[in-house]
Formats: sequence, structure tokens, C-alpha cells
Amino acid sequence: DDFFATVAEKSEGAGLRGDYSKIDAQYVVAQDWDAYTPEQHALWRRLYQRQAKLIPGRACDVFIESLERLNIGDGIPNFEQSSEALFKATGWRLVAVPGLIPDYTFFEHLANRRFPVTVWLREPEEFDYIVEPDVFHDFFGHVPLLFNPIFADHMQEYGKGGLKAMKLDGLSMLARLYWYTVEFGLIQQPDGLRVYGAGILSSGGEIEYCLSSPEPRRIPFEVERVMRTLYKIDSYQETYFVIDSFQQLFNDTAPDFTPIYQKLKTLDPLPANLLLPGEVNLQAK
Ligand code: PHE
Ligand code: FE
Repeated sequence: DDFFATVAEKSEGAGLRGDYSKIDAQYVVAQDWDAYTPEQHALWRRLYQRQAKLIPGRACDVFIESLERLNIGDGIPNFEQSSEALFKATGWRLVAVPGLIPDYTFFEHLANRRFPVTVWLREPEEFDYIVEPDVFHDFFGHVPLLFNPIFADHMQEYGKGGLKAMKLDGLSMLARLYWYTVEFGLIQQPDGLRVYGAGILSSGGEIEYCLSSPEPRRIPFEVERVMRTLYKIDSYQETYFVIDSFQQLFNDTAPDFTPIYQKLKTLDPLPANLLLPGEVNLQAK
């Protein structure tokens, strides 16, 4: 499975995997697409093909539609080309980064409708498992969703909310929201439960597990509940939160979080494997 730490956990960009010697003030680098080797493009194709087989009936509609539109099955995509298409659709751009970047910089990019994509690709031995997000996770997992106008707006609001949370000491709570939505979120479509979280969509195992296994909890999304809930970074999730629509995600996260941060600071966080009394646990399909 696809295991990695979030930017929220590794708050400093330096010292991580990736070449940070050529960054600008925003941690942006040139993608240097010509430098990828044929072996790397072949590895991307293998990763892509495995996921593409798992996607039908499991990924949400916008993911499937965007993936067709992006046409990235042949090799590591050229960010500039994809960025053009994305900009036309929702006004977002892709920027190349060496790997994880500091929280502040990450939020600044999102707040300005720029999505940072890591340039390096995992090694063949890491086919199933990576410790930090690589280009496959960042691009395949995250970029397709940015073609949805509401989700795209939500991501910008999240970036602004991140800058605000830094001042309010709310980052751990906001990171849980990101984790259980943008990375590991499920959505109830009219035709069934589907995946929209990038951490699942780029994982070979969890995409099936999260929908079909009787083990994990699947709980209707609720902002305070999510922001109170701890998460596992080294195994499949023990709980998934389910939204009804991207509009719900946008609307429910729109209110001022200041009082929520204040309140949750006085409460203990909840373990990842808990079902509270009265909570609905949606059945596996
Ligand atoms: N509404 C949040 C706040 O006031 C900001 C936010 C929006 C956070 C969207 C996450 C997602 O802090
Ligand atoms: Fe991610």
C-alpha cells in the first residue's frame, strides 16, 4: 500500500528525499521532463496500468472522466502540457517541486490555485510502497480531481484555511481533515460508494479494501468528528468518512473554524478505530 507522511507531519522541506538545491522562493523547480529515463516511463506505465484496471466502478466519476482527458497512460506526464488543460478547466496550474515542502509554502500554492507535484518517481522496488509522495501519487492521485470546479474551489479554500490555521494553532486538526478527505475520502454517488481520496486512488490495495472489506468503519462525513479523529499512516485506514457530494464538502468546510479549533483543543482526540454511539457505519458493497 501507499504509505507516506503528509506535509503537515514533515513541516520542513529540507532533509527529505529529492533535490532541493535548485528551488526558488516557493520551492518550485523545473520538471526537467527530458531527464526521465525510458525505464522510469516504463515504471509509470506499469503503475498506471495496474491502477487503471482498478478504477472502473471504484473511483468517482470526475476521476475517471479527467483521467481519460489527461491521457497520461504512456509515461510520466509533462506538467506544462497537463497544466494548460487544467488551467482551461478550472484555473489551476501545476508547479513542479522536489518533494514535500513546508506547510506555509504548500498552503500558499493552494491558496493561489497552484498544485505542487513532486518530480521524482519511486524506484521499482517501491512499486507497492512509498514513504513520501512521488510523482505518481501526486499526479495520478490528485490532479484529476482538480478538474471538478467545486473540488478545485474547495482546495483553494483549504489553502487559505491552512494559512489561517497556522496562526490559530489548528494545523493538527486541519491535517486530519485533509487526510480523511483529500487523501482518503469516499463519496456516495447515486450508483454507489466511490473513492475520491488520492492516497487510495494511487494505492494498489486500498482501493479495493476501502470499498469491500467488512473491517473498516465508513462514517458519514462530519467536520468536527473528522478533525477530532487520529489516523494511521502505516496501514490501511481503520475509518473512512463519506461525503454525499463535493458541494457538501465545500459547504461544510466553509464556516469559520476558529471556534471549532478552540473547542477541540479542550477535548482528547479520538482513536482511528472508534464508532461512537448512534453513528452510522455504512456497509461494504
Ligand atoms: N473555513 C475554514 C476556516 O475558517 C477554512 C477551510 C476551508 C478549511 C476549506 C478547510 C477547507 O478556517
Ligand atoms: Fe497526497
